[in-house]
Amino acid sequence: MSAMRPKLAVYPGSFDPLTNGHVDIIERGERLFERIVIAILVNTEKEPLFSAEERLEITQDVFREHGNVEVETYDGLLVDYATDRGADVIVRGLRAISDFEIEMQMALMNRRLSESIETVFMMPSERYTYVSSRLTKEIFTLGGSISGLVPEAVERRLREKSASARIDNAGIS
Ligand code: PNS
Repeated sequence: MSAMRPKLAVYPGSFDPLTNGHVDIIERGERLFERIVIAILVNTEKEPLFSAEERLEITQDVFREHGNVEVETYDGLLVDYATDRGADVIVRGLRAISDFEIEMQMALMNRRLSESIETVFMMPSERYTYVSSRLTKEIFTLGGSISGLVPEAVERRLREKSASARIDNAGIS
């Protein structure tokens, strides 16, 4: 039975920023797969809050103690990256019906591009079903509390970023 278990899963995304919903999915994935690679897309279409390098550092920091989790960045087609890594599975989180349409489209398109890689959907804990990177960014930017929505390392980096932006705006550096 264990010989049939998928060994390596890729969990791709923008992770801008990493949320506790992402962390929840990764921890569930660790129970299903021998190894899971968090794959951070370098070139998101939108202007990212954190650079790819920062997102890599933060995510590595959060999963420092997890021996079966790796963190990498990728560019280009996800299926090409997954094939290069020898992954059997792409993991995506599904929070609500509203995620389903785009996720199904991506899964079927990725299957068309590579028949050998299967997309597996996982549901986060219900306490994270309304958490998204986009809302987290918006709340933080507008001065609201994001405590409990993101890992402590993300909160810290966000605070540092806004402090340095304030210094820049004040013309101190
Ligand atoms: O966190 P996101 O933004 O929902 O993740 C989307 C992501 C990064 C998984 C997707 O946009 C992606 O894989 N992009 C890489 C380019 C690619 O393979 N495009 C075809 C997808 S069907």
